[in-house]
Amino acid sequence: MVEHGLSTRKPERYIMSNSLWSSETSLGISSLDEPHKALLDKLAQLQSVSDADFSAHYASLVARVENDFREEEELMEQIDFPGLRCHREEHAKLLGGLHHAAAAVMEGDVALGRRAIELLPQWFVFHISTMDTALSFALQFRDEEQHNGQTGARFI
Ligand SMILES: [Fe+2]
Repeated sequence: MVEHGLSTRKPERYIMSNSLWSSETSLGISSLDEPHKALLDKLAQLQSVSDADFSAHYASLVARVENDFREEEELMEQIDFPGLRCHREEHAKLLGGLHHAAAAVMEGDVALGRRAIELLPQWFVFHISTMDTALSFALQFRDEEQHNGQTGARFI
């Protein structure tokens, strides 16, 4: 149902599933899809972790996100991707939120960490369908260029 141009779809659509990965989130590039799938699987797993184990799993998730974002940004640097700055800023904003919640989780505020985890699937699905999709197009363009023996073309 849509009112005033805003979707009223509930985020539980993503949260209640055992796996958050689907063909809709696939970009067709293994260097992007594999870390995305592992991350979404870990997010789904984290939703059923006990409070006692939550902080360790949360820290592990944040480390994975940091690593995945760093690898993605290295890919963008390698191809001189024009959207690098904007994409990096989006990564940094999310990591800032995760780090803020991490401090609270480490002090025993598991509820704030769980709230952050609830919001992440929506963030990732949107990010994958927008910014990471643009990156996937650029990577495909680079691969086609290399296949055809062309170099030096720049993205507009
Ligand atoms: Fe990204």
